Amino acid sequence: MDRWRTIIEPFRIHSVEPVRMTTVDERETALRAAGWNLFNLHADDVLVDLLTDSGTGAMSRDQWAAVQHGDESYAGSPSWFAFLESVQVLFPYRHVIPTHQGRAAEKILFSVIGGPGRTIPNNTHFDTTRANVEFTGAEAVDLVIAEGRDPAALHPFKGNMDIEALDRLLAERAGSVPVVFVTITNNSGGGQPVSLENLRAVRAVCDRHGVPLFLDACRFAENAWFIKTREPGQADRSVPDIVREIASLADGMTMSAKKDGLANIGGWLALNDDDLARRCRDLLILTEGFPTYGGLAGRDLEAIAQGLREVVEDDYLRYRIRSTAYLGEALDAAGVPVVKPFGGHAIYLDARALLSHIRPLEYPGQALAVALYREGGIRGCEIGTVMFGRHPDGSEAPAAMDLVRLAIPRRTYTQSHVDYVIEVVRWVAERAASLRGFRIVDQPPALRHFTARFEPLG
Ligand SMILES: Cc1ncc(COP(=O)(O)O)c(C=O)c1O
Repeated sequence: MDRWRTIIEPFRIHSVEPVRMTTVDERETALRAAGWNLFNLHADDVLVDLLTDSGTGAMSRDQWAAVQHGDESYAGSPSWFAFLESVQVLFPYRHVIPTHQGRAAEKILFSVIGGPGRTIPNNTHFDTTRANVEFTGAEAVDLVIAEGRDPAALHPFKGNMDIEALDRLLAERAGSVPVVFVTITNNSGGGQPVSLENLRAVRAVCDRHGVPLFLDACRFAENAWFIKTREPGQADRSVPDIVREIASLADGMTMSAKKDGLANIGGWLALNDDDLARRCRDLLILTEGFPTYGGLAGRDLEAIAQGLREVVEDDYLRYRIRSTAYLGEALDAAGVPVVKPFGGHAIYLDARALLSHIRPLEYPGQALAVALYREGGIRGCEIGTVMFGRHPDGSEAPAAMDLVRLAIPRRTYTQSHVDYVIEVVRWVAERAASLRGFRIVDQPPALRHFTARFEPLG
């Protein structure tokens, strides 16, 4: 396959969903009604939806067939055992607790181990992870390496944890750190992977201080592919083998099956600690459901079981990572500032660099995301000061970066959709100086990016 440059999607299209064409005027009206928040749009008004890669992928023929095997027994369904086996082949933790999505696993875990006075370090907490930590009164600390905070820095594993900083934090506060988290890949930091070497070093620091290590493993297969293709000595290993080594370095995980589960819904919490698992299951029954289905239907469990087999295939992962890089390479060649190296599931535009005339507290990421929608019907997601700039005490400060994430749903768009995206982003970037910032006119106390309403400045 390496002989040809053209990316071949390793599938044929079997069922199609129409996309509704819209005009700039229609999109302008939709923006006004949405308070310039792209989360408030009607998805029918979006041409290419790159808001998220979460739950938006296409399921395979074999997953739809598996859905038909869904057994909806309340307790002990065969679908549960199919799910359990698929999870434990890759992540052989003693306890697997199914949840309706990743944040439900986070909510349960942090309700048990979080609380005032506690600290949870991570390479970078994702928004829901940070919010669930902070909701319990605990502090969420991000300790990614310095390169991980610099959109232009080239490093093969920009998601790595800063080992010295972690060691220092644990030396100072080990008694109040119930768990160390590592997010693979590091979504908020640009979809950047974590190396096996770094994970081993994190494990060693955790062992020294007697603190357990958990993975936020949403994009574990993409991370394993980066390890296979970038880390010395890993090229000849199979992806499932690398995933099992990753799992062996941790004591547990939270997971959103809406990413590398290749499913539209689902997640789990998995761990080895019997006592912690019992307390988490008690909460699960209170909030999600019986421990053999969590918040899921039997058919969802079957779709995930099959998705986990497909997501670790070389042909799929080669296409996945290559087709994301195709978008990044074209934008980079056109002079659009993008986070490099390219992430696994998304390309991140550096809005702070492109719109340097807009101050971070006037939300350059929001301005760029709105312009891409207005001009081309492309929906991306601000990952910057709107998402992370407001603190629990109500104060506001610029986030580390102001990015716009163009997340690629799995197996959903073709190369010509991506060529269209490239054309629109280039057009907007050439006119970046004409864009204006925004102010927020209404916002909730936490996770404001989902529901805040904006007004254009000037
Ligand atoms: C790194 C990371 N952690 C956790 C989550 C939460 O998962 P869910 O959306 O299934 O609740 C996400 C979702 O985007 C994520 O990217």
